[in-house]
Amino acid sequence: MKRIGVLVSGRGSNLQALIDAARRGALGGEVAVVVSNVEGALGLERARQAGIPAVFRDHRGKKREAFDAEIVEVLRVHHVDLVCLAGFMRLLSPVFVRAFPGRIVNVHPALLPAFPGLEAQRQAWEHGAKVSGATVHLVDEGLDSGPIVAQEAVPVLSSDTAETLAARILETEHRLYPRAVRLLLESRCRVEGRRVIVEGE
Ligand code: GRF
Repeated sequence: MKRIGVLVSGRGSNLQALIDAARRGALGGEVAVVVSNVEGALGLERARQAGIPAVFRDHRGKKREAFDAEIVEVLRVHHVDLVCLAGFMRLLSPVFVRAFPGRIVNVHPALLPAFPGLEAQRQAWEHGAKVSGATVHLVDEGLDSGPIVAQEAVPVLSSDTAETLAARILETEHRLYPRAVRLLLESRCRVEGRRVIVEGE
């Protein structure tokens, strides 16, 4: 059974989607540990509810590399094959990225490379985009810049507010993220430069 480690800072709805998919046997692996830099994160509570080890590590007052090394250690102790970021509100240092080369993945609420960074749904809405969506990508040392594993478009309606758009994108994330994680866990992806080639696609 492949093991994933999920990093969260907040409500953890994508974590929940991964846990639910694993329970249905639709993830190709199991959630082995959940780590957060926020002690009261709902994501940690979701992990406990599911009987998954939930680990808090405080980043405050530490150098980025020192904090990242602590997280890497937790993930190693739990023999994690793939690291999934799910609303983890910290940039990873090279120390972290190099510890799991090609084995860190993130979900972003826009069609990258459009609208990287924070509040991507609001950025798309304010820009007047007619289509936005969700992206699952491998994590490199940049901001939302790694090779794209999967994307799904979400239309922006004239009646949308930034909030209603974000809610529809979130539903899409919950479908897309487990699917993309499964492709990675089943080794059905190969990276060629910026392109992720998916077997059978
Ligand atoms: C999601 O919109 C995700 O795309 C972004 O952060 C948000 C996390 O939401 N990276 P949740 O904690 O999974 O509910």
